[in-house]
Amino acid sequence: MTAVTQAFDARAQASAGPLPPGFLPRDCTFDPTDWAILARQWFPVARLADLADKPQAVTLLDLPLVVYRAGDTVRVARDLCPHRGLPLSMGWVEGEEIVCAYHGLRYGPDGQCRKIPAHPDLEPSRRLKVGMFPAVERYGLVWTCLDPSDETAAIPSFPLWDADGFQQIVTPFVDIAGSAARQMEGFVDVAHFAWVHHEAFADREDPVVPIYDTKVTDTGLRTDYWSSVSNYPRHLRHLAPPDFRWLRRFEIQPPFAAHLTIFFPGEQRLSILNLPSPVSARKTRLFVPLVRNFDTTGDVEDVYAFNAQIFAEDAAVVERQTPEELPLEPSEEAHFPADKTSLGYRRLLRGMGLTFRYVT
Ligand code: FES
Ligand SMILES: [Fe+2]
Repeated sequence: MTAVTQAFDARAQASAGPLPPGFLPRDCTFDPTDWAILARQWFPVARLADLADKPQAVTLLDLPLVVYRAGDTVRVARDLCPHRGLPLSMGWVEGEEIVCAYHGLRYGPDGQCRKIPAHPDLEPSRRLKVGMFPAVERYGLVWTCLDPSDETAAIPSFPLWDADGFQQIVTPFVDIAGSAARQMEGFVDVAHFAWVHHEAFADREDPVVPIYDTKVTDTGLRTDYWSSVSNYPRHLRHLAPPDFRWLRRFEIQPPFAAHLTIFFPGEQRLSILNLPSPVSARKTRLFVPLVRNFDTTGDVEDVYAFNAQIFAEDAAVVERQTPEELPLEPSEEAHFPADKTSLGYRRLLRGMGLTFRYVT
């Protein structure tokens, strides 16, 4: 089955509408209009490698969800038993059914209760139905969408993911006490390398950002950034040929996907998909699938460690920015030429109708 068909089938599966019209999660930290816009987008909620026998509790856009494997299929449901409100993630899976830990009610793939153990002969009411969301496996992650009504909404593209000669790596997720948009902007910010990543790969003696161009594309925004900043970890920096100019190609797919391809010497490429999944307006779970066509038999633990270092350096900044949400009006913060990509990103978000108004 192609990924597109899979997404379509998953959408059809949830066509009954997993949430009632006008729904907002309890204690929603988003502006209601922003929430409705973001609910129509696809986000990753779990790494496939982390899914075990036990249902996993996750949160997306302030809504508690449960992700579980039922046979060969991954499912995403509201983490709420409609009987007495226990999280289904406290239960377990048997065959294709998820079982609630409180009174043993069993829910099938469409979310309908199939059995009430206290009344084995009673046909369960239609009201005993759990909201099911589409679940699509892509880039080693489980993706879902809370309001699958917009057929134009799509999972971000990652053209090199399946390319010949590339090794696929899905690094462990990182929890960040900051907003997804602030993290996104940090990922595409090129003036911070020398200051925030001077221990990982950059250099405080080389802070200059050459002027670069951005281009609006069908899917978002593209920046080709050429500089002398090596992408090798510091201890391998001698591998870069003298005077080598590094191309970093950023492709933003709003609201929260940024694709970075780094052109290493020769034909070596590293391509990273930065996916900050919005747990709430001020909390983010970052997923980072990546591919590379060099060191393909190398130790992935080294890649995990290098990424963990860089994302910890970034998180230390993103978690301290005020306001926590990204200010979308250009007049709300000051800018300089190196901020061109982030200004374009803010424009794309405004174009989607987002405001990121602060909600307490
Ligand atoms: S609360 Fe889930 S079965 Fe009663
Ligand atoms: Fe960074």
